[in-house]
Amino acid sequence: MPSVAKDDAALIALGLEHMASGMGRKWDIIMESGEGLVVTLSDGTKKLDFTAGIGVTNLGHCHPKITAAATKQVSTIVHAQGAIGMSRPYLQLVDRLLNCMPTPNLNSFFLWNSGSEAIEAAIKVTRRATGKNNIIVFQGSYHGRTYGASALTKSKTIYSEGVGSVMPGVYTTAFPYWHALGVSSETSEEELVRLAVYQLELLLKQQTAPTDTAAIFLEPVLGEGGYIQAPAAFLRAVRAICDKHNILLVIDEVQSGFGRTGKFFNIEKTPDVKPDVLVFAKGLANGFPLSGIATSKEIMATMPPGSLGGTYAGNAVSCAAAVAVQDVFAEEDILGNVNARSAQLFTALHAFASSPKTSHLIADVRGAGLMVGLEFNDSSDSICALSSKSDKPIPKNIHTRVQAKCYEQGLMLLTTSIYPVIRFIPALIVTEEQMATATSILKKALEEVALEG
Ligand SMILES: Cc1ncc(COP(=O)(O)O)c(C=O)c1O
Repeated sequence: MPSVAKDDAALIALGLEHMASGMGRKWDIIMESGEGLVVTLSDGTKKLDFTAGIGVTNLGHCHPKITAAATKQVSTIVHAQGAIGMSRPYLQLVDRLLNCMPTPNLNSFFLWNSGSEAIEAAIKVTRRATGKNNIIVFQGSYHGRTYGASALTKSKTIYSEGVGSVMPGVYTTAFPYWHALGVSSETSEEELVRLAVYQLELLLKQQTAPTDTAAIFLEPVLGEGGYIQAPAAFLRAVRAICDKHNILLVIDEVQSGFGRTGKFFNIEKTPDVKPDVLVFAKGLANGFPLSGIATSKEIMATMPPGSLGGTYAGNAVSCAAAVAVQDVFAEEDILGNVNARSAQLFTALHAFASSPKTSHLIADVRGAGLMVGLEFNDSSDSICALSSKSDKPIPKNIHTRVQAKCYEQGLMLLTTSIYPVIRFIPALIVTEEQMATATSILKKALEEVALEG
């Protein structure tokens, strides 16, 4: 009889010993249960979750309507494999998605399991539809960790370091972000756009000819690259370049989609910029594995039968959960709450950025909706270093110290990017009171770090 770990301490020890260290485990904890924004750990401690499982549980943990839909589907049919037959929730989901696409041209869908897989599908489709090979992405972008998707990922070297060649044919240009362009944080948005568009045009003249370039993949809000909203003028310029050169524009809304930034999809904020392909995942099924791409019927028709698929693609339980997500959006004013709580969060962060106690710590407050980044001044790394206007000494590793202090006080937060950035991605149903609790925990943590130096 093999031995079985008897208690949580033994289970955690077993996990530490036998789980892949490459997963980058942060906390030695078991998340026992979740309800809305509150997570209970196995020792009974409760935490306010401002991570939403990296922007996934957008409607909160175990939303009752989503749980009910998934539970019902589990006892109806779990696996209706797409090559054999369809599940009803799959078809119902396509019906719902047709009504929420940013443009009616996005009317043909392929569902998969993860964001990375959906990116793989978008690579295949854009290459096949254009008959061209090369792909352009932006410095700081994150599109996933499979070999194709990690070739498109430029946020950190760790995703492809030491593992040999990733997919060839990928070219990188600057995102309109001051760090990426090596300019001052006070550079105007207009100038950032001008510089980034110039770099893109240069790339198309010096490295990848338009006749060889299939697609530009773009996160409208750079996620793992630091939570930076792409300016509308930049999105328009990229769209115009794509139109001029017959290049497809792939908008990756894996993290920014499903209400996260106050519109259903972030790209709706620039209604004249229409994606040729939209990639989505995360909030789609509120925690059940499901992702997808949407494109036009003409583009999708270039894929021969059998070229897209996968054993678990579009799982019936995940689709049932995703249908329930759509229904919750139709029944409740989720976007209204995102915009109100976003304003509350920005007001608090701007107050910290101008307070005499903490202003010297903060380099930037930015983002959209409930996808908000707080970048710190940091003297410990030359690429992150900023010329702070304050005479006060800048403490080291502010972001990880603030994150740890908040955790001790009951607030779960994530960092992002190679820069010292904390990101705020609570579930979109966060209440005014929960937001006030989170910002007061954060204020205390910032003031402590400022005092400790
Ligand atoms: C913008 C973006 N694209 C793609 C992915 C990859 O998704 P997944 O982790 O589900 O493979 C992510 C994940 O964080 C993401 O933020």
